[in-house]
Amino acid sequence: MADISAELAGIKFETCVFNAAGPKDVTLDELEVIAKSSSSAITMKSCTLEPRQGNPEPRYYDLPEGSINSMGLPNLGYKEYIRFTHLLKSKYKKPIVASISGLKFEDNITIFNAFNESNTDIIEFNPGSPNTIGKPTMGYDFEYLDNSLREIAKVCKKPLGIKLPPYFDFVHFEQVAEIIKRHKVLYICSINSIGNALVVDPERESVVIKPKGGFGGLGGKYIKYTSLANVRKFYELLGDRVQLVGCGGVYSGTDAFEFILAGATAIQLGTVYMQEGPSCFKRIQNELMAYMKNKGYESIEDFRGQLKTID
Ligand code: SIN
Repeated sequence: MADISAELAGIKFETCVFNAAGPKDVTLDELEVIAKSSSSAITMKSCTLEPRQGNPEPRYYDLPEGSINSMGLPNLGYKEYIRFTHLLKSKYKKPIVASISGLKFEDNITIFNAFNESNTDIIEFNPGSPNTIGKPTMGYDFEYLDNSLREIAKVCKKPLGIKLPPYFDFVHFEQVAEIIKRHKVLYICSINSIGNALVVDPERESVVIKPKGGFGGLGGKYIKYTSLANVRKFYELLGDRVQLVGCGGVYSGTDAFEFILAGATAIQLGTVYMQEGPSCFKRIQNELMAYMKNKGYESIEDFRGQLKTID
């Protein structure tokens, strides 16, 4: 049996496959479903200072090969997630990943400070949501990113990761990599959904989600190649100085294998979890182990980052 365990941000993960912040991880009941599944960690919904209803419904729509959403960060407010870390830790042995997406710079500082007293193992800063009405995607404002990370790093006493929006231009990758190098970020999770896509239903002659006139974040198989490109480019620029987590379009063990080949240490499942439910974790872990066995690999470190280019 191939070993697909991983160490992420200094924390041991039984396997390298776990849930992404976002799908079905808002309430304690939902988090307990993840805790009882084969997900190797319990990632919680990105939280804000105050509880949020999120955007008007319909705000999520399944597509043949993925999804579009504009949830708008519906969450119970950070205090509830701090409480959940204590409850979850007392019942389950898995690492807990908190995700923080404060709407303002000062909110993030308050929330990060408060999470020092939580039972979370890792904190993922999420400046990559494209869905907050009236706000830009903060991960595209490099000055904000740099300033936020500087101040967050000062207060955060937990291992820190960051979930980034997708980038498409090599210059932007280089600028972001320079920012990441300046701060105490242990991993980059790439990518959040591809923002502001538009799905049209020709029968109804209508968009499929309500917020923002139908524009929303694209997920699933449509975005796998952009996710892979983001993981690979950051791996080229940062090497093993910062770990990488692949997120976006992983539906099979072979997909997970591709992300590890590109440099990822771990894989998060988003849309596939939304669509298939908790069985996706075990299935994808088993498929990854079988694929590695066929290739003769014993652990993910045997091939991580070893993607070949063509001379
Ligand atoms: C949302 O709640 O709108 C999705 C969160 C995210 O994309 O980070």
